[in-house]
Amino acid sequence: MGSHIWLVTGASCGLGQALVNEVLSSGGRVIAVTRDNEPLQPLTTAFPGRLRTVSVGITDAGTPRPVLDDAITGFGRLDVVVNSAGYALAGPFEELDGTELRAQFEVGFFAVANVLRAALPHLRAAKAGRVLQISSPTGRIGAPEMSAYTAGKHALEGLSVSLAAELTPLGIRTTIVEPGAARTDFRANRASRLPGSPALPDYLPVHEALARSATAAARQVGDPARMAQALVALADMPNPPLRLPFGSDALAGVENARSDQLEELRRFATLSACTDRPKAI
Ligand SMILES: NC(=O)c1ccc[n+]([C@@H]2O[C@H](COP(=O)([O-])OP(=O)(O)OC[C@H]3O[C@@H](n4cnc5c(N)ncnc54)[C@H](OP(=O)(O)O)[C@@H]3O)[C@@H](O)[C@H]2O)c1
Repeated sequence: MGSHIWLVTGASCGLGQALVNEVLSSGGRVIAVTRDNEPLQPLTTAFPGRLRTVSVGITDAGTPRPVLDDAITGFGRLDVVVNSAGYALAGPFEELDGTELRAQFEVGFFAVANVLRAALPHLRAAKAGRVLQISSPTGRIGAPEMSAYTAGKHALEGLSVSLAAELTPLGIRTTIVEPGAARTDFRANRASRLPGSPALPDYLPVHEALARSATAAARQVGDPARMAQALVALADMPNPPLRLPFGSDALAGVENARSDQLEELRRFATLSACTDRPKAI
């Protein structure tokens, strides 16, 4: 485990930076992808030769591949790729404009695709490796006020489930990680993405709920350092899960949603099945 070479996006802060720290502390090497390398300077100094920082726009389709290729070649190979970069566009759907919606998907979905396009050829060449996709419980359930973020995470999970089926026969395992609320700046960053236009009066309670949740940092149960340890443990499992919620809140949220979905499926099973063509006599 200690000798793995990782590529981590969103490494400037939060979960990404906690992971970079954990991997380096356990003997691994990291290609840390950021928009600004400055926050990683102390780790670069503390772990000489084991951290390569790459400042590149992961949302620019053509840009990341040559830059990441270079960094991966510099270390000689790649073992684990982690797509952690993300932010949440929050607000009632009717108040979000198309540009904001596309920007959410650029980071939450297309940037992931750009990074995978750079990373997968290296993993395929080795016929081994791990892809860890940082999603959210909202990647499989809905969340009011978070339609754009939720849609982006659903897209990420759809990509990842299909990718897992393509990559497993090639020796590459994929895990979708669904953290619950973690004590990072994620919520503060989310609030700052609220549209500046005045709220439609009908959605005032939504804005108030968002403002309350942005300041509720002390109630987030998830510890990014422990999540980072769990990611390192995942990368070493011979048979990792396809999906894994992180945190008791994520676990409960997914379990409740699943049981509601199953109950609804059963309640309307007759209507579902009645659309079959009549059986030939
Ligand atoms: N924290 C939570 O409660 C929580 C819960 C569920 C899921 N998640 C997921 O966990 C992942 C990490 O979140 P976090 O808690 O570590 O949040 P964070 O502390 O806000 O860190 C987010 C990271 O993503 C990067 N990022 C944001 N927008 C970007 C863009 N346009 N291009 C490139 N990089 C960008 C940020 O870089 P800059 O510093 O350059 O902005 C930062 O490194 C995200 O995918 C998030 O959806 C978090």
